[in-house]
Amino acid sequence: MSIINSKFQLKNLELKNRLVMPPMASSRAADNGAVTHRLCEYYNEKTRGGCLGLVIVEHAYISIDGKAHASQLSIAADADMPGLRRLTETIHANGSRVFAQLSHAGSAAERKVTGCDIISASTVNSPFSKAGDENPREMTAAEIKKLISDFGAAAVRAKEAGFDGIELHSAHYYLLDQFYSPLTNRRTDEYCGDSLEGRLRLHIEIINEIRRLTGDDFTLALRLGACDYTDGGATLADSVQAAKMLEKAGIDLLDISGGLCGPFRPHAKHEGYFKELSTAIKQAVSVPVILTGGISTAEGAEALLKEGAADLIGVGRALLKNSFWAENALKKFAD
Ligand SMILES: Cc1cc2nc3c(=O)[nH]c(=O)nc-3n(C[C@H](O)[C@H](O)[C@H](O)COP(=O)(O)O)c2cc1C
Repeated sequence: MSIINSKFQLKNLELKNRLVMPPMASSRAADNGAVTHRLCEYYNEKTRGGCLGLVIVEHAYISIDGKAHASQLSIAADADMPGLRRLTETIHANGSRVFAQLSHAGSAAERKVTGCDIISASTVNSPFSKAGDENPREMTAAEIKKLISDFGAAAVRAKEAGFDGIELHSAHYYLLDQFYSPLTNRRTDEYCGDSLEGRLRLHIEIINEIRRLTGDDFTLALRLGACDYTDGGATLADSVQAAKMLEKAGIDLLDISGGLCGPFRPHAKHEGYFKELSTAIKQAVSVPVILTGGISTAEGAEALLKEGAADLIGVGRALLKNSFWAENALKKFAD
């Protein structure tokens, strides 16, 4: 029996196989972030046939100041609920488990989209930001408190809308990643960039709030930007420690990706280009790990599972190009 085809027990959820559709912004939501018919149809097409164990829906903003781009999905308001319910029903009807990805873009948000101040851990932009990007304002203690409560409220909406779990977006230079990376966190308070405890304090406070509101059974994942691949940035050694701290804080699943550099590893094209990160993290924790990045063949996915690089495999662009990718991959390894 191949690993790719085998079931996986994720906390109290059974996944029918090891394939995950990672979050990918499709810009198919309405201007106000509501689920559209087009968005449901897109997920219907990607999940038809029931060949994905888990679908992590594209990032949804938890408050308007964290909206990254026009037509991004919203989970910021109760008015979003009917659409979100339609979306989970569509994906469940096709036989996959479904998570919401909760996100705040921080300094990756644009004033012209949000109409709000651009906020972040501190007043610095990422070394990867474009010339002319507005510098963010450092979040106040009151804004941090509100952010924690906004994440909590969004998680409650996700649970009530029928999502099987949520994923916190702490990768790709979004707000939680901006707190995590020492290059963008120059704070001097208890959320400070000098210590891993400070860089992860916000994450842990958000996890505690979500647990308080959604209970112990709801599945919580976190997408960790595990390395910045930049001098002075987050390193693999940091992330091994961070993974242990996140596990202790109650995270059930770690989804490994790039940090400030984004989801595509600079100068690396091989399948599973973040596997050094996921392998080391998997060895350090007992919660399961997802690896995504550059995986485009069934053989590549199976080999990465076999060598212990991850428990679950995310396949993004290959699935975007070909909605039958998962079906074909599973057939190749069917007994
Ligand atoms: C069009 C597109 C949109 C994406 N949107 C998100 C997103 O909303 N949240 C996120 O964490 N990653 C996002 N990503 C990154 C993917 O989840 C994935 O990590 C990346 O595409 C690398 O995997 P792949 O080589 O299998 O495509 C996006 C990628 C693409 C191509």
